[in-house]
Amino acid sequence: MRKVMVYKRFERFWHWSQALLVLALAVTGFQIRYGCTLISFEETILYHKILAWAFVILIIFAAFWHFTTGEWRQYIPMPKQTGAMVRFYMKGIFKGEPHPVKKTELSKLNPLQRLAYLGLKLLVIPVLVTSGFLYYYYNQWSVIGLDGMTLAPIATIHTLAAFALIAFMFAHIYLTTTGHTVTSNMKAMITGWEALEDESAPPAPAAPQED
Ligand code: HEM
Repeated sequence: MRKVMVYKRFERFWHWSQALLVLALAVTGFQIRYGCTLISFEETILYHKILAWAFVILIIFAAFWHFTTGEWRQYIPMPKQTGAMVRFYMKGIFKGEPHPVKKTELSKLNPLQRLAYLGLKLLVIPVLVTSGFLYYYYNQWSVIGLDGMTLAPIATIHTLAAFALIAFMFAHIYLTTTGHTVTSNMKAMITGWEALEDESAPPAPAAPQED
């Protein structure tokens, strides 16, 4: 094994600020939908809007970082290895089998993570942000020719996308515990460093067979 800087400083900042913003947007959003018990309705809406703008600014910086550093390539799907990864998560993981796809600095995300994150970036988050801004600018809908529409379907789409994002977060947190140790992935996202298998090292000798 060798210690590698897997997650750069900006990446860690972006990851944790995004996590906090989504959590705070979920708390304020579900308060708006299901009743405000923490603070007043008006304050909740105000905080949701401020957090939403912060989220959009973070998305813009993160997109810029991904494109200028080439890190966007981490999300290119790996269709040939996806089946092996699904089998691993359904069976192999419970038998302690090794991960079928090795993590490296150049390929940090396994094929399923690539698909899940791509789905989030290209579908769930754009739907959340677009429906959120349509909601936000409800009074100006006539400008974009939406004057006949009601708010209800937009609120439903926004809420469904919010549930999808929260469901992703639960699955994501569970999967972070399936690294070398329960906390190794979490620690890597805090410090940046992770112990990865040394690709240049000769393969370990096979374990003696027991009869
Ligand atoms: C840029 C991103 C976002 C924008 C612009 C946005 C905007 C809005 C707006 C304007 C409202 C209506 C507030 C009102 O009643 O006046 C709202 C409601 C809501 N938001 Fe967001 N939001 C965003 C992200 C999120 C996220 C990330 C979540 C959760 C993970 C979320 C969950 C909700 C929920 C559940 C509601 C209540 C929907 C309803 O009224 O039925 N929002 N949002």
